[in-house]
Amino acid sequence: MSVKVNSRIAKVVGSSTLAITAKAKELKAKGCDVVNFAAGEPDFDTPSSIKAAAIQAIENGFTKYTPSIGTLELRKAIAEKFKKDNQLEYTPAQIVVNCGAKHSIFNAILALCDDDDEVILPSPYWVSYPEMIKVAGAKPVILRTTQEHNFKIMPHQLKEAITPKTKLLILNSPSNPTGMVYTREELLDISNMLMEKGIFCLSDEIYEKIIYDAQEHVSIASLCPEIKELTIVVNGVSKSYAMTGWRIGYAAGNREIITAMSNLQSHSTSNPASISQKAALAALEGPQEPLRHMVAEFVKRRDYIVERLNSINGISCLKPQGAFYVFPDISKILGRAFKGQSIKDDLFLAEILLAEAKVAVVPGSAFGSDHNLRVSYATSMGKIIEGLNRIEEFVNKLV
Ligand SMILES: Cc1ncc(COP(=O)(O)O)c(C=O)c1O
Repeated sequence: MSVKVNSRIAKVVGSSTLAITAKAKELKAKGCDVVNFAAGEPDFDTPSSIKAAAIQAIENGFTKYTPSIGTLELRKAIAEKFKKDNQLEYTPAQIVVNCGAKHSIFNAILALCDDDDEVILPSPYWVSYPEMIKVAGAKPVILRTTQEHNFKIMPHQLKEAITPKTKLLILNSPSNPTGMVYTREELLDISNMLMEKGIFCLSDEIYEKIIYDAQEHVSIASLCPEIKELTIVVNGVSKSYAMTGWRIGYAAGNREIITAMSNLQSHSTSNPASISQKAALAALEGPQEPLRHMVAEFVKRRDYIVERLNSINGISCLKPQGAFYVFPDISKILGRAFKGQSIKDDLFLAEILLAEAKVAVVPGSAFGSDHNLRVSYATSMGKIIEGLNRIEEFVNKLV
């Protein structure tokens, strides 16, 4: 029987990053020695002080519903975090805690966008944004960025993309998949244009703390009170504190938007897990040393991976300033052949790298850029060295 599912949901494609990670794990479970460069999560363990807070929560019986917007103590701690790290003042009523930053973004888009609204989305983009926009009935308007311009949108591009239907711009800095970080000056240009037209901004700052080379993370919302009113800042504990499985993200912004997001959440998931909320509180208020250690490790890996990739014939790669991905250009490899088979596109390259070299990477088309691959360095240095040896050996065999 063919089922006619909801027409909006029918247009949604499953997350390809999760699918590739699952495939790599499946091969591993079968005993195959796969190097997994597809991971979207730190390979570090959740710090023990955070785990201890969760265990304490269970033992204290903190195991019931909380307010669906999140506990007041956690929202107060998040408000403190915004004040300290981003020079942003929010009341707890302007903050909602969700089941991961993905959920925060989803709720924000649903709360804000109407049928046929246009949402400007710079590409390469994180895989989930276009699908979320489609679920809301809105239309993604993709703005292509290039390696030449460090994968950042140019003010003239933004200006040309704005129409009377434009409701929202999605910004992600540091970016998944490119690792690029917008500077204060670049954000000022963008914010001026948004304020002129009254366009909202969803600023996904989930990789805020994973930033390198003394690069400054600037939240666009902190530039002036007008842009703050138009911005929904999304952040969370998943990446910074190696807590991807705990599912805590949060959003802050205009009270009406946050209330709408909270109302929506009250009819879907209700509150994020009570125990995870206690763990997130411990993450925000506790020692930050594990985070510093993690970032120091990521820097070494980034430096190594960028140098190795650039030394491979046909690959060119920018040095990212944040997150834990590189997004090399592989256009010179496309069209070469492996055992008589032409490498026609990035999808085939990713497939054959997994099958032949036993290396899992994500094809760039998942992020709207079909001449790149996303390579995550959230894996040990030993694995990175091995994975790059395999990629190099594979590319050298191409004719
Ligand atoms: C850019 C970006 N935003 C949001 C998320 C979602 O984070 P969470 O695991 O907290 O839902 C991710 C996770 O991969 C991401 O890369």
